[in-house]
Amino acid sequence: MSRKQKLIIDCDTGSDDAVALMTAVLSDRFDILAVTTTHGNLPVKYTTENTLRVLELLGRQDIPVYPGCNEGMVKLLTPGRMVNPKIKAISKVIDGKEVAFHDRYLDLPEAVTKPQAEHACSFLLRTLRETKEKIILAAFGPMTNIGMALRMDPSIAQNIEGIVVMGGGVHEANKSMAAESNFFNDPEAAKIVLECGAPVVVIPLDATNDVALSREDIAKIASSGTTAATFAAGLVLHALEAAELLGFSDNGKNGLHDPLTICFLLEPTVITDLRHCACDIDLGGGRADGQLLCDMRPGEKPTLPTYVAMRGDKDKYLSLLTHTLAKGR
Ligand code: RIB
Ligand code: CA
Repeated sequence: MSRKQKLIIDCDTGSDDAVALMTAVLSDRFDILAVTTTHGNLPVKYTTENTLRVLELLGRQDIPVYPGCNEGMVKLLTPGRMVNPKIKAISKVIDGKEVAFHDRYLDLPEAVTKPQAEHACSFLLRTLRETKEKIILAAFGPMTNIGMALRMDPSIAQNIEGIVVMGGGVHEANKSMAAESNFFNDPEAAKIVLECGAPVVVIPLDATNDVALSREDIAKIASSGTTAATFAAGLVLHALEAAELLGFSDNGKNGLHDPLTICFLLEPTVITDLRHCACDIDLGGGRADGQLLCDMRPGEKPTLPTYVAMRGDKDKYLSLLTHTLAKGR
């Protein structure tokens, strides 16, 4: 049997993050060294607690959780920077009830396990300096922790096998009219990661919305009846219902973003259109702040190993999720 690939997950759990975490753990294909938590969907206090809850649900309290940064590297320090774009609310009170994409706490028992005392950035720095084997990073929140570690010591990129990132949008956006939420919340960190020199695969909204899931698909995920499948299907259904109530979806489907990173690591052919192209991030502070820019002009030769996923195979994605989440109790 081939050796398990060493993996560190950086996330802002978050309902789709929770499904991604469960998929990574249950696949049994990774040696998950740690989960580092970041701000984004919620403040880091909640994303850390939610991460611990998910790991306990799967009986994987042995995977250490390192709490990370609670805001972007410099974004909030920059005067005049757009920090509150006119966005559609991601929570709203409808008929006296709050409807939100990401509830503060996942509906799981309070975690008994404690997070690590060491900060996520120093954990990343220490681990990536000391490792004898290259490590894969999967990032599905604002990349402040990874960006900070790379800033402190850019040479750690040599020990990164690759970084798979959920973020950005080539033709799509969600947080502002130009930017996706993870990149919008820390554009400088996204730029540092894209330019670090290690191979980076960006899974943007274009790909995740291309494999959006319907109610029928969600029922398929739930069909095994395992603890993970039932919990994951509940989260995905809740997100679809919230998307409909908040006016984000009108076609009976919703993009399940973060797990596509893990499914890509499990089976790269789940992405059907992956382009090697130069990438940049708008840091202008105005209406395009945090926008992912991809140079797909014919004849342009990228100088860095940055790849952008444009399309996916929905049936393969659903099958990977269904089979992986069917494992366990
Ligand atoms: O834009 C989608 C991304 O933002 C996902 O990672 C979701 O969890 C939120 O962090
Ligand atoms: Ca996320």
